[in-house]
Amino acid sequence: MLRGKRIVLGVSGSIAAYKAALLVRLLVKEGAEVQVIMTPSAKEFITPLTLSTLSGRPVLCDFFHSDSGSWNSHVELGLWADAMVVAPATASTIGKMAGGVADNLLITTYLSMKAPVFVAPAMDLDMYAHPSTVKNVEVLKSYGNHVIEAAEGELASHLSGKGRMEEPQNIVQRLKEFFSAGNELKGKRVLVTAGPTYEKIDPVRFVGNYSSGKMGFSIAEECASRGADVVLVAGPVSLQCNNPAIKRIDVESAREMYDAAMAEFPASDVAVLSAAVADYRPAVQASEKMKRVSGSMTLELEANPDIAASLGNIKKENQRLVGFALETCNGEANAVAKLDKKNLDFIVLNSLEDKGAGFAHDTNKVTIISRDGKEEFPLKSKKDVAKDIVSRISKFFLLFIMLLLPLSASAEGEELDATVTLNASKVQGTNTEVFKQLEESLNEFINNRKWTSNTYEEEERLVCNFSFVVNSYSNDGSFDCSLMVQSSRPIYGSSYNSTAFKYEDKSIKFNYQPFDRLEFVEENLDNNLTAVVAFYIYMMIGMDMDTYGELGGSEFLNRALNIANNAQNLGDAGWKAGSSNNNRYSIIDDYMNGAMEPIRKMMYKYHRLGLDTMFKNADGGRKEITAGIALMGKAYEDRPLAYFTKLITEYKVDEIVNIYSKCTSEEKKSVVETLSRINPSLSSQWDKITKNNNY
Ligand SMILES: Cc1cc2nc3c(=O)[nH]c(=O)nc-3n(C[C@H](O)[C@H](O)[C@H](O)COP(=O)(O)O)c2cc1C
Repeated sequence: MLRGKRIVLGVSGSIAAYKAALLVRLLVKEGAEVQVIMTPSAKEFITPLTLSTLSGRPVLCDFFHSDSGSWNSHVELGLWADAMVVAPATASTIGKMAGGVADNLLITTYLSMKAPVFVAPAMDLDMYAHPSTVKNVEVLKSYGNHVIEAAEGELASHLSGKGRMEEPQNIVQRLKEFFSAGNELKGKRVLVTAGPTYEKIDPVRFVGNYSSGKMGFSIAEECASRGADVVLVAGPVSLQCNNPAIKRIDVESAREMYDAAMAEFPASDVAVLSAAVADYRPAVQASEKMKRVSGSMTLELEANPDIAASLGNIKKENQRLVGFALETCNGEANAVAKLDKKNLDFIVLNSLEDKGAGFAHDTNKVTIISRDGKEEFPLKSKKDVAKDIVSRISKFFLLFIMLLLPLSASAEGEELDATVTLNASKVQGTNTEVFKQLEESLNEFINNRKWTSNTYEEEERLVCNFSFVVNSYSNDGSFDCSLMVQSSRPIYGSSYNSTAFKYEDKSIKFNYQPFDRLEFVEENLDNNLTAVVAFYIYMMIGMDMDTYGELGGSEFLNRALNIANNAQNLGDAGWKAGSSNNNRYSIIDDYMNGAMEPIRKMMYKYHRLGLDTMFKNADGGRKEITAGIALMGKAYEDRPLAYFTKLITEYKVDEIVNIYSKCTSEEKKSVVETLSRINPSLSSQWDKITKNNNY
């Protein structure tokens, strides 16, 4: 689930910082790439050396490198990451995140973060309970951050209470759930009703019930986190919901709830009716506060509309309806009767006979009853009960998708595991919908197309990222953008991905009419953008197969060459032949005309014979990589290829420094000599190999 995911781990100055080491290890084991950022004070609690060794990447801490004058780009990290985790998060860091106090790299990265952020607080119980911490945590939640609540237990102060950072295993589990929950309800619209209703007697009194709304709010959050658009019709409750995918409609009475539900249901795929709706309301609502009278008073009640039955009546074949039953006796029999009477697809029964179930508790114990039978669940938190219920709802659609699967061409196009991000923040004052739409179109173009006829196993898929930055856009549809394209290969027998290609293409010009589908016809390149993207995809698949496959990648490299030739004939920018440096045409030309042979051999040695065997035989694998680096040196001598060897050293720098953290001094000497020749600008990194104790 976390394979290939890029996680920025922010570590702040808590005694729980030692747990960050285990967290890094677990994340790396799951196949994630981890970039650690530490606050200055965190370094007092755990050394960067430990975390860089475990993550295989240098730990970032400062804004600047005083030795080279270069700076760490929080903006790039914000674009790079699939998720940011701040663990442990101190009271101070939480406060700075909430208040935007950007005085260290962790906070600037947080403020630039495009990916979801998880925050795992760690502190003493009194600090955690202090109103300022409570308020700051709420602020973070309101920004859509995922707060992983601190657990109860013994604290560093030897006191016991709530404040312990959640265990690393559980944090990893939360991330896995987040990424796996993914999008199974994407494109679906879910209507949820929650909370009690208040039926007015007079301006100050009402007939109500004890419902807190917690169950319905948890269901709404869970549906939204699985990609659904949610409409939450909420009775009078004091709960907040944080997910922007939830549209909340606040109502008070059963009639208002009925009106809202009837209006929203026709456009919904599912309705989950968890609200405790009053069956009756006072027949007359006094306009003034009623005065005490002598003797008893009779309140006449009249029936409210039955929301479940009304929605059941208008339900269409492709809609689903889920009801709730709260019973005090004969629960199952009553629930089954309700299922049929109200045309529900399933009903969630909770009984007040069960301890910890029903109103106001944080826990619930439910039985899901459908026409196929019943499933009983143990007592769980309402959040976990919501997961069970929503998983059951997802099954309706899963079945539907599985039926469609054999017909869908996109289901076979699995050679790429591609992520597309588009950043248009440089373009001011333009309709952002255009860019959202373009990002979706690019995603569809790259992911829903079958680029090869080969069959790929899940772990063989090429992980790649296309990161676009739009530099300018004019309303006639002409864009100017740059593209960072990168692919990684899983190393056989491990959960580690090694970068196999990384390239930045600075000037792509193309036209895009908003809401157009991106089409690509290999022989007819009328859209430079799809041509560029297809070129890189064929290039990456071709190079990958050259490096790994018995058959080589010529077929795909030829396709890339074909695109380059056609585009060159059309005179498109960035494709001109004969240029001495790294334009698109030169890359493929060099690769195909034999000049790139040392690079092909080098990549084969490095990845296949080197990295792939390193896990079994570290010394043997590293020797092959050393031979690969020697080949890189030879390729560098052949001047036209100098740019390519430099490129490889740049994207492999951390990996190489890590690989040579342990080796003989002769190996170090030869490798450092070659690398310093190819890329002297990285000398401070190559020095780390020589010094070794720096890493
Ligand atoms: C031994 C020790 C343990 C500490 N543990 C915590 C802690 O668990 N949580 C917390 O919020 N602050 C803790 N602090 C205080 C923070 O280290 C301090 O507020 C620091 O400025 C936090 O900076 P940072 O959030 O930028 O890393 C501790 C301080 C000391 C001396």
